[in-house]
Amino acid sequence: MGIALKKISKSYNGQAVLKNLNLEINRGEFHVLLGPSGGGKTTILSVIAGLIRQDNGDVLIGKRNVSNLSPEKRKIGFVFQDYALFPHLTVFDNVAYGLRVKNVEESEINQKVEYYLSKVSIEKEKGKFSRQLSGGQKQRVALIRALITEPEILLLDEPMSNLDALTKETTGNELKTIQQEMGMTTVYVTHNQDEAILLGDRVSVLNHGEIEQIEAPDELFYHPKTEFVARFVGAKNILKVRIIEINQYGAVAQVNNSGLGQPVQIRVNKYPIFEKGKEINLCIHPEKISLKRENKASDVNLNRIRGKLINKTNNGNGLKATIDTNGMELHATIPKDLFDFKIHEDVWVCFAPDAPHPLCGKKCRAPEAGRRCLVTTQVDRLLGC
Ligand SMILES: Nc1ncnc2c1ncn2[C@@H]1O[C@H](COP(=O)(O)OP(=O)(O)OP(=O)(O)O)[C@@H](O)[C@H]1O
Ligand SMILES: [Mg+2]
Repeated sequence: MGIALKKISKSYNGQAVLKNLNLEINRGEFHVLLGPSGGGKTTILSVIAGLIRQDNGDVLIGKRNVSNLSPEKRKIGFVFQDYALFPHLTVFDNVAYGLRVKNVEESEINQKVEYYLSKVSIEKEKGKFSRQLSGGQKQRVALIRALITEPEILLLDEPMSNLDALTKETTGNELKTIQQEMGMTTVYVTHNQDEAILLGDRVSVLNHGEIEQIEAPDELFYHPKTEFVARFVGAKNILKVRIIEINQYGAVAQVNNSGLGQPVQIRVNKYPIFEKGKEINLCIHPEKISLKRENKASDVNLNRIRGKLINKTNNGNGLKATIDTNGMELHATIPKDLFDFKIHEDVWVCFAPDAPHPLCGKKCRAPEAGRRCLVTTQVDRLLGC
């Protein structure tokens, strides 16, 4: 069953936490709510579950308005941010609880509990009480306690925040497989963009009780539409530009960032919101930037800006480089094996015309606008200009 939140508002002591929030989650979708602490993520889950009553607006599950239904009548599985395990029950009995309430046969309960315990590699802890478990173990127990009842709707509030990277990936993959097999509509809360990208069919980014952007993970990551989303997903190259030319193939933008000595012009794809003379912010994801030592004729298709490497930091497989381009800092994430530059070395910062995209704001997002903001003009045609 799908979930629809219609114009939901919620305030505490006059302070608005959710503001006229609309959100539609499709049946069977794995939907991630991504956002910083205090943004209203837990409040949204609690409103869906009926644990908190909204001030205004309606909650629909399937086509049914459940705003006046108590939590137990909504048939929702909930993994709470603080686990909420029963302290007087063992791991086994915590996991079995939901099935016992439904009067499932004990032999079936045994079989199912063992199966789920093994899914998250926690079989050895089955006789322990919650106080004897680590934070990560408690999270995995809470997760399978919700999964075992096979709810049609599953709400998960930061269920993997205490797991190490490897356990997070395996548990995340297990969760996604179970979710797809059962087809349950899932809402997953996190402030971690890697989890959002690993798990989400779509991701909503929440900023102070309002949704900034709803998108498939890759699109969100590489084409954020607002400055808040861009910074949250690490797309921190934000160039203030003026559009100085639009032609049938693309556009030319002049970079206005203060500190630049000579004005720099870059070629970019053409977007519907572009107008000649208009000032706009363009965003370039750090992974879309490469560094070169020489200004080769073969790179004529790329935008090239002269700069000096001023910082590099280790980032797993890649290196994060900061380049000073005459007063404007640009950031690049480069695979380690392609990185042989030294600090203070002069470099060419290179990116294709389709790398920069406009931060065109919340209203620009589909489907409300009726069209996508991004027009992928053929780069090769653009380069013919
Ligand atoms: N019962 C309450 N009384 C007063 N204020 C509350 C209450 N519950 C939540 N809030 C406030 O509402 C805002 C949103 O809280 P919420 O728990 O939904 O945030 P969150 O996005 O889940 O944050 P986190 O990532 O830290 O868990 C916060 O400013 C919080 O202080
Ligand atoms: Mg929370």
